[in-house]
Amino acid sequence: MRGSFEGDSFSHGLRARPRSTSFQPALNSIRLDYTNTLADVIGPERGLALSDLEAMADASRSALSRVQARRGEDLRWLDLPHERGYLNDIRAYAESVQGRFENICVLGIGGSALGNIALHSALDANYHDLFPAPGKPRLFVLDNIDPEWIAEFLEKVDPSKTLFNVISKSGGTAETMSQFLIVREKLEQTLGSAAVKDHLVVTTDAEKGVLREICDREGYTTFPVPDGVGGRFSVLSPVGLLPACLIGIDGAALLDGAATMDTRCREESFFENPAQVYAALQTGFDRERKMPIAVTLSYSHRLRNFADWYAQLLAESIGKRTSTEGQDVFVGPTPVRAVGVTDQHSQVQLYVEGPFDKWFTFLAVDEASDPVQIPRAFEDLEGAAYLGGRTLQELFVAEREGTRIALTESGRPNCSIHFPRVDAHTVGQYIALMEVSVALMGEHYGINAFDQPGVEAGKVAAYALMGRAGYEARRKEIEQAGQRDARTV
Ligand code: PA5
Repeated sequence: MRGSFEGDSFSHGLRARPRSTSFQPALNSIRLDYTNTLADVIGPERGLALSDLEAMADASRSALSRVQARRGEDLRWLDLPHERGYLNDIRAYAESVQGRFENICVLGIGGSALGNIALHSALDANYHDLFPAPGKPRLFVLDNIDPEWIAEFLEKVDPSKTLFNVISKSGGTAETMSQFLIVREKLEQTLGSAAVKDHLVVTTDAEKGVLREICDREGYTTFPVPDGVGGRFSVLSPVGLLPACLIGIDGAALLDGAATMDTRCREESFFENPAQVYAALQTGFDRERKMPIAVTLSYSHRLRNFADWYAQLLAESIGKRTSTEGQDVFVGPTPVRAVGVTDQHSQVQLYVEGPFDKWFTFLAVDEASDPVQIPRAFEDLEGAAYLGGRTLQELFVAEREGTRIALTESGRPNCSIHFPRVDAHTVGQYIALMEVSVALMGEHYGINAFDQPGVEAGKVAAYALMGRAGYEARRKEIEQAGQRDARTV
């Protein structure tokens, strides 16, 4: 049956017909327009019919109720938009250090870093780190351990003007732990042992982990990563809120936006709930239409790093070997990040004419704070003249619409998430929408969206190679496997 998902029953029809394929409940709301994913727009072979979506509605509704039943239990990230206690504590801390630091430097990786990078580029002033406004710190997120990159940073940054925020939920990630050890020594050597704790603030589990033990021993200031909040679902916890508030992002507006979307995403009626629709589209295109590649195409330079954040959220949550029933399933769409207009001159050729293995989500912003006038000049030369008197915003929108039309006309399913503007409120909405959607996808795919055994496997191998006690047997296995003849050219 078209529109039915493996391992789940989508067999019952929907009670109410959808009112439209574009949500627009309030003026400052982001809305999901999925018109161009539908069979009557891009053809029955590639598109999903409304009846396909209707057929998914019952299973989607039960997925929603299973996810929502875990609110306040193991899925505590669902409650974060409504939680204000952490924000109040963070604001008090941010106030206490205000004016003392020129640089905030996050040490963390994966879910402890990507949300911070995305919030920074979306909501801080463009180019702030190159041309900082007086009294407002810059933000650096060191989410890699390439020694050259770290060494140069530590050589260039003045530790006396820098606050390091170490972020690790587990408190044991080798990359973050090694960065912490290096930075701590640098602070000791340059500022003296007594000053170290004034330049460190740590976000980690409230009770467990080596980092927690170190913090307790050394008396560092800490903020918790709450239970039931996995790394990639943690941006609205102190993991994202602390750096955000330290650089002046409006944390309350971010949470308000997320709370608004959380309410929309609890709606039982399938076509009224953007998370239900988005999860069904993602699952349908991957599993029914055999389009395993999910491209996020950000027509907003500010939002570009949210495509990276979402890539992790989708890949780590849904990319799984085993179903919740214990069967090997090897599922998961492949996220791809692209930026408009930049990638029109790089990837869009492939997207419009290449294999039918992708579906697209545009991030589109309706309003620009400064549309930038294009001057009139060379009016005798049409190749320049037609631009004169228009704005860059008009050109940007025309290019976005041009790409959307080209994709649609070549039968490529695409939806758009429209932001009225990029601000903390709309960004909060987007975060909540994607998080709930991915949780629903987990139900559709029949996998656990909240673990990451593949990542853990790599971590264990690295511990073994670094000679960590307790990993000797694994090291032996790796060494034996490495004895085969290498073939290089
Ligand atoms: O989403 C996740 O759980 C991971 O990406 C983690 O955030 C990442 O592995 C870092 O882990 P930790 O925060 O425990 O250092």
